[in-house]
Amino acid sequence: MSFTNKKIIAGNWKMNGLKNDAWKLTNDLLSKFESPDEKLGFEMIICPPATLLSEVVSMVDGSPIKVGAQNCCDKLDGAYTGEISPVMVKDIGANFVILGHSERRSYYGETNELVAKKAEAALNQGLTPIICIGETLEQKENGSALAVIEDQFLNSIPENATIENIIIAYEPVWAIGTGKVATLQDIIDVHTKIREVAEKKFGSQNISILYGGSVKPNNAKDIFSLKDVDGVLVGGASLKADDFWAIAMASV
Ligand code: PGA
Repeated sequence: MSFTNKKIIAGNWKMNGLKNDAWKLTNDLLSKFESPDEKLGFEMIICPPATLLSEVVSMVDGSPIKVGAQNCCDKLDGAYTGEISPVMVKDIGANFVILGHSERRSYYGETNELVAKKAEAALNQGLTPIICIGETLEQKENGSALAVIEDQFLNSIPENATIENIIIAYEPVWAIGTGKVATLQDIIDVHTKIREVAEKKFGSQNISILYGGSVKPNNAKDIFSLKDVDGVLVGGASLKADDFWAIAMASV
């Protein structure tokens, strides 16, 4: 387990939301926390676009909601036009950063090696990286999914990672935004594999693993029933406060 023994409910807003949307969504979520204290059975992390981080961080200040970025640079500062450094992410008050999402790997050419460098830089700033790994449909169909997962896991994790300071998100590429959720057996198989590889690398299986890919209120309970699932990374359904909250409540 990482920073928590509770289920982690992480929302990835992707490139969605203007100031007004962020204000409404965040307020709607805040209003659902009746008693903002540690008795809650889950940890909620929301990851808005970079333009909204500052706004959302101030809105959730003093509440149980935590904030993450969706990406960061592997460099700390300098002539890297358009990039956002992990120092900046930390400075703005976020504590997490999603790294190696399949959309970044496929649309922006991010390799395992780059993801590992970003994660190393993020860890050095005290951020918790949520490192995404997952096979494509083709890899699933040709039987190489577990080998791909092992390779991505071992090569996307930096030297300064420990079993406690990172979170892994298993997100089968074919399940992201498609409405096709992985079967419970798929999730068990891959999470078991990740734990085996973690054992080899770190000497412990006790790493936080989120499942992501078309998690919705109607399938969340089944997903949380799996003991190997430490939480979920939610895309589309995290843009609706009611749905995101329903997913969170399915974890307790
Ligand atoms: P989805 O996205 O829930 O819309 O499938 C998940 C993700 O990409 O993190």
